[in-house]
Amino acid sequence: MDTSYILLFAQLSLFILLHNHTSLANIITDEASLLAFKSHISSHPNNILASNWSSSGPVCSWIGVTCSSRHNRVTALDISTMQLHGIIPPHLGNLSFLVSLNISNNAFHGDLPQELARLQRLKVIDVASNNSPEKFRHF
Ligand SMILES: *[C@@H]1O[C@H](CO)[C@@H](O)[C@H](O)[C@H]1NC(C)=O
Ligand SMILES: *[C@@H]1O[C@H](CO)[C@@H](O)[C@H](O)[C@H]1NC(C)=O
Ligand SMILES: *[C@@H]1O[C@H](CO)[C@@H](O)[C@H](O)[C@H]1NC(C)=O
Repeated sequence: MDTSYILLFAQLSLFILLHNHTSLANIITDEASLLAFKSHISSHPNNILASNWSSSGPVCSWIGVTCSSRHNRVTALDISTMQLHGIIPPHLGNLSFLVSLNISNNAFHGDLPQELARLQRLKVIDVASNNSPEKFRHF
C-alpha cells in the first residue's frame, strides 16, 4: 500500500515535470523556428521582420504571427505581401501547432521542406506568387 502511494507520487511528479518542461520548450521551440526562418530571409530595405521578430518581445506579438491562447503556441503565420526574399528552412517543421501558413506574394524560392509534412494540424499552405511556384507545387 505504502509502496504504491510512493509510486503514484513519483509518477505524478514525473508527469508534472515533463508536462511543464514540454510546454516551456514548445513556445521556445516556436520562437527558435521563427528566428531560424528570419535568418533565411534576405535583408531588404522594407524587411519589417528584421526588427520586429526579436526576442525582446513575445513571439505571439510578432507581425504575422497568431497564437492559440489555450496552448500558447503559434497556429498561423501570415507574412504575405511583405517583399521578402529567401528560402523556407526545415525549422518551420517544428511549429507543431501550425494550422495555416501564408507566404504568398513574396520572392521566396527553392523547395518547401519535407519537414512540413509532419505538421499534423497544418491545413492551409498558400505559396502563390513567389519565385518558383512550379517547385512549390511538388510538395
Ligand atoms: C512588433 O509589431 C507588433 C505589431 O505592430 C507590436 O505590437 C510589437 O510590439 C512589435 N514588437 C517588436 C519587438 O518590435
Ligand atoms: C528544429 O528543426 C530543425 C531541423 O528540422 C532541427 O535541426 C532543430 O534542432 C529543431 N529545433 C528545435 C529547437 O527543436
Ligand atoms: C494569403 O494572403 C493573401 C494576401 O494577403 C490573401 O489574398 C490570401 O487569401 C491568403 N491565403 C489564404 C489561403 O488565406
